[in-house]
Amino acid sequence: MKILVTGAAGFIGYHVSTRLLQLGHDVIGLDNLNDYYDPALKKARLAELVSAAFTDVRADIADQAAMTRVFSEERPDAVLNLAAETHVDRSLDGPRAFVDTNIVGTFVLLETARQFITALPPAERERFRFLHVSTDEVYGTLASTGQFSEETPYAPNSPYAASKASADHLARAYFHSYGVPVLITNCSNNYGPYQFPEKLIPLMITNAIDGKDLPVYGDGLNVRDWLYVEDCCRAIDAVLHSGRSGEVYNIGSRAEKTNLEIVTTLLDLLNRPHSLIKFVTDRLGHDRRYATDPDKIETELGWHPQETFESGIQKTVRWYQDNAIWIARARSGEYLQYYERMYGET
Ligand code: NAD
Ligand code: TYD
Repeated sequence: MKILVTGAAGFIGYHVSTRLLQLGHDVIGLDNLNDYYDPALKKARLAELVSAAFTDVRADIADQAAMTRVFSEERPDAVLNLAAETHVDRSLDGPRAFVDTNIVGTFVLLETARQFITALPPAERERFRFLHVSTDEVYGTLASTGQFSEETPYAPNSPYAASKASADHLARAYFHSYGVPVLITNCSNNYGPYQFPEKLIPLMITNAIDGKDLPVYGDGLNVRDWLYVEDCCRAIDAVLHSGRSGEVYNIGSRAEKTNLEIVTTLLDLLNRPHSLIKFVTDRLGHDRRYATDPDKIETELGWHPQETFESGIQKTVRWYQDNAIWIARARSGEYLQYYERMYGET
């Protein structure tokens, strides 16, 4: 299959492209290398994907002319839409980019796909798939019990979650109104190698390695459901190939942890003192708890996570310990200004 992966230079995009290439697919890796942080880091991920089966495309998913050109030149059999602005704190800082990419960009991709498949012979149109990758954050926040299911009503709380929810609604509408064979996945928090240290786990690992404070928002008792990135990629792959068009699949691994549990685990694995934990001002509108029920994807597609939280976090810590150069580059340039704005020091 020839698969257009948008956001291929991103964290999940890189891992999923690696997997698809290993499985023998052709991958068109599209990314605009947005300049939140050193594009060299994304190029480092892309460099690992270079092969005869990988086509590297630099474009913005919100650019209609560019998307029309990519579809007509590359003629994908499927689209995997991962390109997005993805960090909640950045969405609180500047929501506009989230609207532009996550909502308008997804709309442009869906519209391009609609026009593209209209002109395909029926057999090819039948085979075409559009998998839109979304987040469990669209469902809002949970109290201490319960889980999100595919039927949970949307109640996004951050500008990031709202922009992803809007995109999901557009994707759903393109299936119902135009018959574009859309599938949606809503996955929980991913972690693993090569994640940029603005998100909780890589930020805390890299701070601990450097002997810096670990900034925990509020009381540290917010809960997330942690999914190892390669398990997420296997799930995305299963939905892309075997999921039913028009369906939503939640992906989670029943690994609920408070943020405090995460940081203490990391400090213990890295042999650092718990005194590095620093409680800081809470995030605006901070969702208390996410927990995602993966029952549908498990029973319908036979997907199960292969990593426990314990095995996944050990692999992740080891990767960051072994990749100091990547981290040093990750923590330079624009990132330093961002870090200072967020945490008041560099
Ligand atoms: P990421 O920020 O690492 O990667 C996103 C990529 O998209 C980046 O390489 C960026 O350059 C690219 N991009 C941004 N705007 C673009 C545009 N306009 N045109 C082309 N490319 C653009 O994010 P990630 O963690 O890999 O997340 C990938 C997808 O998975 C996102 O849609 C995100 O909402 C979803 N998701 C992520 C998580 C998670 O924990 N990481 C959880 C649930 C859902
Ligand atoms: P994050 O990795 O940003 O993912 P999301 O907000 O999409 O769930 O944050 C995960 C949790 O960690 C969330 O409850 C916020 C918290 N957090 C901190 O306590 N300190 C930090 O510096 C960051 C980045 C996150």
